[in-house]
Amino acid sequence: MRRIPSILGDPGWTVCLVGEEQSGKLAQVTAGLRHGPDPSGSGKRITSGFSYWGLESTVAWAHACNDLYYPVMRESIGSFSRRWRAMTQTLPDGPLHYVSLGPGTGQKDQALLRYLDSRGRSGCYIPVDVSAEMLRLAQREALEHLHVPPADVLPVQLDFSMPANLDRLCTLIRHAVGDEPVVYSLLGNTLANFDNDTQLLALLAEKLLRPQDRFLLEVASTAGQDEAAARAAAHEYENSPRFREFVTSALMQYTDLQIDMNSLTCEGLVEDDRALKIKVVYRNRTGGPLELTLPDRSTVPFPDQDTIRLLLSRKYTPAGLEKMLVDARVTKVGETHDVGHAAFDRPAFGLALLMLQSADAAPEPAPRVPGPNPFRD
Ligand SMILES: C[S@@+](CC[C@H](N)C(=O)[O-])C[C@H]1O[C@@H](n2cnc3c(N)ncnc32)[C@H](O)[C@@H]1O
Repeated sequence: MRRIPSILGDPGWTVCLVGEEQSGKLAQVTAGLRHGPDPSGSGKRITSGFSYWGLESTVAWAHACNDLYYPVMRESIGSFSRRWRAMTQTLPDGPLHYVSLGPGTGQKDQALLRYLDSRGRSGCYIPVDVSAEMLRLAQREALEHLHVPPADVLPVQLDFSMPANLDRLCTLIRHAVGDEPVVYSLLGNTLANFDNDTQLLALLAEKLLRPQDRFLLEVASTAGQDEAAARAAAHEYENSPRFREFVTSALMQYTDLQIDMNSLTCEGLVEDDRALKIKVVYRNRTGGPLELTLPDRSTVPFPDQDTIRLLLSRKYTPAGLEKMLVDARVTKVGETHDVGHAAFDRPAFGLALLMLQSADAAPEPAPRVPGPNPFRD
């Protein structure tokens, strides 16, 4: 790095630290597609990260974020600047380093970095993503018109859902920032894409968060929690042609399936009292058995009515969200809640932006001193 500082000044170059063996990731995606038949969408699957991994998926995601028929992401990006500003009083003082977990197109990172820059408070910018192509896109967008020294930008390609990777990421971040505070972010309802969302949040908090750090979390929310609300949540995804292209792009990359968009369905379910759960599923509707060829050229049967789960998402109830924070051992120090434009006959879905800190950093509530008992003499 010391030998190429002048080259790094040219925005055409991106330096990226690759934090894990990419061939191992390919084995992981293949294993997910080998699960046995399950018509309910809980067998074969493409797990989080892999929906975004690779150039086709990255381009398709960038298109989906701008789709007029997929307003959730567009509105979440468009309103982020305003919602973030409402949260800035909860930041620690002084310069702040920013670690963006899953930066996507980088537009939200730009809003956050612009704010820090305008206050003369910028430190290092460390975007972390499973997809190298997404990192390059995000970095270009996030840093546009900002004069961040190249040495302060450190993109890391790595799957942040793996505990060993988080240990290594933590070591890297500590080397870069020392004891200075860090703001982490996990935005765009990314947490909801993981089967065990609470476990992931707990892991991120345990491995990364020190008392001086903050964690900015954005999740989708729901006021209603019945079958009708679950169906409406599924519809939100179903209506967007660009989202459908995005969600099938991984299937195009990792299998030889002839994709028929009519075989794509979004299923809304009620997940206890904590969330609405949305499964985006590809179903074999040909009426006969198919065979899938996987990246390692092995084949797996894909019988009639069998499914491949392409994406998992959720909209959390207020109680579900509170419980997840408690279970993940984090506390809220700030919060904004936008309720989206709900039509009169549709449930209100919204976006919650939360500023969190480690529960271990929060001061213990003062012990309650019992007052004098007027009924005793
Ligand atoms: C739903 S997008 C959110 C993008 C952005 N934060 C926003 O709010 O617009 C999810 C992002 O997280 C990344 N991602 C998903 N799972 C990941 C994982 N396990 N490890 C690293 N990155 C992951 C994706 O590549 C993508 O950039």
